[in-house]
Amino acid sequence: MVNLAVEICGLKLRNPVIPAAGPMVRNGDALAVAAKEGAGALVTKTISVTQAVVPRPCIAKVKEGLLNAEYGSDLAPEKWLNVELVKAKRTGLPLIASVGYKPAEISELAPKLEAAGVDALELSTHYLADTSSLIEVTKTAKEKVDIPVFVKLSPNTLDIIGSARAAEGAGADGLVAINTLGPCMAIDIETARPILGSSGGYGWLSGPAIKPLALRCVADICRAVHIPVIGVGGISDGRDAVEFIMAGATAVQVCTAAIVRGPKIYALIADEIARFMRVKGYNSIEDFKGIALRHLPEQPLRTRAKPPELIQSKCTSCGLCEKYCIYGAIRIIGKIPKIDPGRCYGCGLCATVCPTRALLF
Ligand SMILES: Cc1cc2nc3c(=O)[nH]c(=O)nc-3n(C[C@H](O)[C@H](O)[C@H](O)COP(=O)(O)O)c2cc1C
Repeated sequence: MVNLAVEICGLKLRNPVIPAAGPMVRNGDALAVAAKEGAGALVTKTISVTQAVVPRPCIAKVKEGLLNAEYGSDLAPEKWLNVELVKAKRTGLPLIASVGYKPAEISELAPKLEAAGVDALELSTHYLADTSSLIEVTKTAKEKVDIPVFVKLSPNTLDIIGSARAAEGAGADGLVAINTLGPCMAIDIETARPILGSSGGYGWLSGPAIKPLALRCVADICRAVHIPVIGVGGISDGRDAVEFIMAGATAVQVCTAAIVRGPKIYALIADEIARFMRVKGYNSIEDFKGIALRHLPEQPLRTRAKPPELIQSKCTSCGLCEKYCIYGAIRIIGKIPKIDPGRCYGCGLCATVCPTRALLF
């Protein structure tokens, strides 16, 4: 029997898949849907003392992701406190309120959210200019509430490790990484206008396009701090979630995949993690949390070409390796890939496109 339950800062989650702040958790009803569809805990859309004025259009599909210009919840904080959080609490799941932005605003809202019964806060630091502001909001929240405070980090910095260490030093109980990347832009070539209605046509990128960046951030952060980390950015299936857990995350959040494929994605991802655990013989998330970190080489693994090893029994002769080999080192002859070691650069691309893992480096 695999056990998907995780505990993070005292919150007990039935599984590690959490909706991330965004339109799929925009109110109490949406949060109830996420709970019904199998989420392990709930996070709200970012609540602030003033309702966000959201430009329209505010979401655009781009290749491999979304651009958005939603600036937090457009519901008044009173509505959250009196109506939406009450509905969300009825689900019985751990409830994390995402809250923004400046110290004075956090100072006013955080105690009210705690009194409304939320189990933890997640500070949105997306619009903070520097590390000293990040430290200030974290300290403010910690002074004002007794519940755990998660700090959500933005990738729009050159030093996310510095941000993580600063938040930990300021008392954060846990970290969430990462928020969206930007600003970015998309143009409708029929009208020559930006697709988003925000000032400058600016939007922030999420989804599969940012997954490798998010994963690197999570791995770097997990090696640098001692507090738990929730990974977010481009997760759309169980394999993605497992990667983040192997990079050290205790749980994961999902936003774009839930927008694109619907809230059923939470249970789907949890089921896929469980299936992976059964195949590999892991009983709990702890069994494989962070196990990739010890394999991150300090120096390059090698700087000489080593051709891939072919596991012939796994090869389906699909020809993808031949198609992708930019060095002309692979030819399918008689349904079998023949690798020319003299041409092979050892780049590794063929192994990553092989659908059956018949090529190994
Ligand atoms: C439409 C949209 C709205 C979002 N709104 C918020 C928000 O209110 N607060 C916040 O902290 N992050 C917000 N995010 C960022 C997500 O929570 C998440 O960090 C980011 O999208 C990366 O995860 P993903 O690739 O799974 O979407 C939003 C993302 C999208 C796409």
